[in-house]
This record gives sequence, C-alpha cells and structure tokens, in this order.
Amino acid sequence: MAKVHVFDHPLIQHKLTYIRDKRTGSKEFRELVEEVAMLMAYEVTRDLPLEEAEVETPVGPAKTKVLAGKKLGVVPILRAGLGMVNGVLKLIPAAKVGHIGLYRDPETLQPVEYYCKLPTDVPERDLIVIDPMLATGGSAAAAITFLKEKGAKNIKLMCLIAAPEGIRTVQEAHPDVDIYAAAVDEKLNDHGYIVPGLGDAGDRLFGTK
Ligand code: PRP
Ligand code: URA
Repeated sequence: MAKVHVFDHPLIQHKLTYIRDKRTGSKEFRELVEEVAMLMAYEVTRDLPLEEAEVETPVGPAKTKVLAGKKLGVVPILRAGLGMVNGVLKLIPAAKVGHIGLYRDPETLQPVEYYCKLPTDVPERDLIVIDPMLATGGSAAAAITFLKEKGAKNIKLMCLIAAPEGIRTVQEAHPDVDIYAAAVDEKLNDHGYIVPGLGDAGDRLFGTK
C-alpha cells in the first residue's frame, strides 16, 4: 500500500494556517500556496538519485555530487494545481510541466476532463501530480489513471490538504502512488468540501465566485 507522508515542518504548518484563514486575500493566498509548494517539493524530491562529480573550488579540487539527471515532470490538475507549479519549479526548474484539466461536477462530484497536454516522453519521467485539495479523491485518481494510460510508471501525488476519503480512494485505485500532504483533515461535508479545509482552492487562488 502506498504511503501517506504528512509534513510537520513548522514553516509549512505556519503558512498553512494563513492559507486556511478566510480573511487571507487572493494575492497573499497565491504567495503562500507557492511557498508551501516549494517547501513540500524539497521533501518530495528527497530520494532523487545523485552521482559523483568534481569541481575546482578557489582552494582546490572537491569531490561532490550532482543530480543524476533523472527526468522529472510536474502535472498540475487545472485549475487549482496551477497555484503550486511555480513553487515546485523554483526547486526543480528543469522539470517539464504537463497539464490535466478536470473539474468536479457540482452535483455528482465526479471529475470531468476538459484539457490535457503532456510531455511526449511521459513513460521516461518520474511525475509529481499537484493539486491543493484531495477531497473525494476522484480528480486525483482520474488524473493518475490517465497518466498511467499514457505510460507513466513512477507517480507521486502532492497536495496541501487531504481528506481521509480522498486518501482511501487514491490508495485503493493506485496502491503504488505515495501521497504527500501538509495536513489530513477531518472529513468532507455534504457538498464534498474538506472540513475544515480552506474553502474552494481555485476560487481563492484566482479571485472567482
Ligand atoms: C478542486 C481541487 C481538486 C478537486 C478535488 O478542483 O482543486 O482538483 O476539486 O476534489 P475531489 O478530490 O473530490 O475530486 P475543482 O473541481 O473545484 O476545479 P478548479 O480547480 O477548476 O476550481
Ligand atoms: N475542492 C476545493 O477547492 N476545496 C475542497 O474543499 C474540496 C474540493
């Protein structure tokens, strides 16, 4: 069964408090989501392979290490996943970015796909799927299924807030996909919103509604 990694880093927890706060406006919300995504990316990439290297410092030769050149891809689920892209790219700028457009039908809560553009070499890349909210898990599970159909073999899911229901859905559908979250909340309400969560991530990021 895939693991769930919950980040207890003080900076992540501090920033998440202000992301949750309903008084936080779109500008600050966007900045905080980007910052938390960057901090989370630091942990999510902890197992990247390294190889030996050598450089000349001003004092002499140094045996060091560099990334072994593993190909990475970041796949935001539109729209709210976009808010996390720049934070991740600050740490791994060479990653290619694919986009999967999904929205939840407000009545059925089922994901509806409306856009997809992925790097051509998906089967060779380790992918990080990003979306701030893992609620019923329908959107993330559908996105991961889609990536596997395109040949992806190594996928991680990174979200800010997960509900127990969403974790269960993804674990059952994709037991090979580890989930990384800044918090696991209590439950979903009758409209499929995470309680206490942060509200509608897309609307808060982009100032819609
Ligand atoms: C939100 C969120 C996830 C999805 C999570 O997107 O960003 O993609 O809901 O819910 P689920 O786990 O129950 O599928 P939404 O459908 O509101 O679209 P948006 O990002 O375009 O606002
Ligand atoms: N999508 C959101 O944006 N927020 C939730 O709480 C659940 C789904």
